[in-house]
Amino acid sequence: MLSQADNDALCRVGPGTLMGNLFREYWLPALQSGELPEPDCAPVRIMLLGEELIAFRDTNGVVGLVDNNCPHRRASLFFGRNEESGIRCVYHGWKFDVNGDCIDMPSEPAESNFRDKVKIKAYPCRERNGVIWAYMGPRAVPPALPELEGNMYPNHYISVLFRNNNWMQGIEGEIDTVHAAFLHGGAARPEDLPPQSFRYYMSKHRAGKFNVRETDVGTSYGMYRIAEEDSYYWRIGHLLFPCFAMPPVPTLGEESRFLAYVPMDDEHTLEWSIGPGANEGLGAGFNAGREYLGNGTGWYDRYVIEQNWDNDFQIDREAQRTWKSWSGIAGVRQQDMAMTEGMGPILDRTSEHLGTTDQMIIRTRRRFLQAARALAEDGTPPPGVEQPAAYHKRSGQIVMHRDADWWADTTHLIERFEAKV
Ligand code: FES
Ligand SMILES: [Fe+2]
Repeated sequence: MLSQADNDALCRVGPGTLMGNLFREYWLPALQSGELPEPDCAPVRIMLLGEELIAFRDTNGVVGLVDNNCPHRRASLFFGRNEESGIRCVYHGWKFDVNGDCIDMPSEPAESNFRDKVKIKAYPCRERNGVIWAYMGPRAVPPALPELEGNMYPNHYISVLFRNNNWMQGIEGEIDTVHAAFLHGGAARPEDLPPQSFRYYMSKHRAGKFNVRETDVGTSYGMYRIAEEDSYYWRIGHLLFPCFAMPPVPTLGEESRFLAYVPMDDEHTLEWSIGPGANEGLGAGFNAGREYLGNGTGWYDRYVIEQNWDNDFQIDREAQRTWKSWSGIAGVRQQDMAMTEGMGPILDRTSEHLGTTDQMIIRTRRRFLQAARALAEDGTPPPGVEQPAAYHKRSGQIVMHRDADWWADTTHLIERFEAKV
């Protein structure tokens, strides 16, 4: 249970907030390269950490991310002309480049130097394998991009999903791995599954025990259940600051993938999923019924799917009643969305009753608050900012002898980073 003050501190990410300042130390995925498909294409509205921004790709292909509002009389640059290496406000013609410099001010007399005194807020962007990353922080020289392996290969899948809740609820859903045996797999019966498979063990013994540890870059867990007489079935996953998660989806060590829960504002999140292979990688049913409505131009019109809160995620009560499905909701992600959105936009953590399987959530919240306060108090750089290689991690499932040390004996798998930096 958290106090109301700690809950607010943990969740709110707007400018000047405790966690907002922590987030601004890191690079964040802002949009996909394909959303700005070519030089001088249409600008895109981006809501990020509670700030209204306009993304554009200039004539040279460089991406800019600037304040929505023109510094002259605050018209929206969404309507701007993207031309000749800059975005031009259509109200009075002021033009800005990707660095935020005003490079033309045709409404003022030619001899005026007012142009040199005006800037628009502009955040540096970097593009890597289809992701446009943004840095909204105070450093004149931004840190290195985090070496998240999933984004370090060309041709890995990228999928993005709009979530109607606070970012922390998304992250907590990701590290709450015990729910997979219920929400996603509650209707599975061991007799219908291959013996000695991960799913077999998970359906045979649904309760689990957690081990949690702090790492250079966040928190990690190993959750175990009885497998055979001499072995345990482990699910090992990571939280990496500030909003990345690696869930135990594959066999441990076999592949790189990660999720990012990027706060649009306090009540809306874009969930990114990046990893190898085609886009059905996150387990059976991940994409079931996941029909995108198609991106519009509004602040909250990107990556919305047809199955959503407004239609109760198209819950099928008959399927729920007859055990065809535990939840009656099609699709793993849609099941997650129904749970996290059903908590309300910002979960009231003063009313929870946390059990032993919630240890990872408790430790992670504590770590976030400690790191954010250390940054506020004496400028301590938060985990991972200055250690891009600390992100070299992999997650997954494994069966090990009961005597095995879940961390020491799996380090070679967890740290099996293969991308060329
Ligand atoms: S408001 Fe943008 S140029 Fe005047
Ligand atoms: Fe889930």
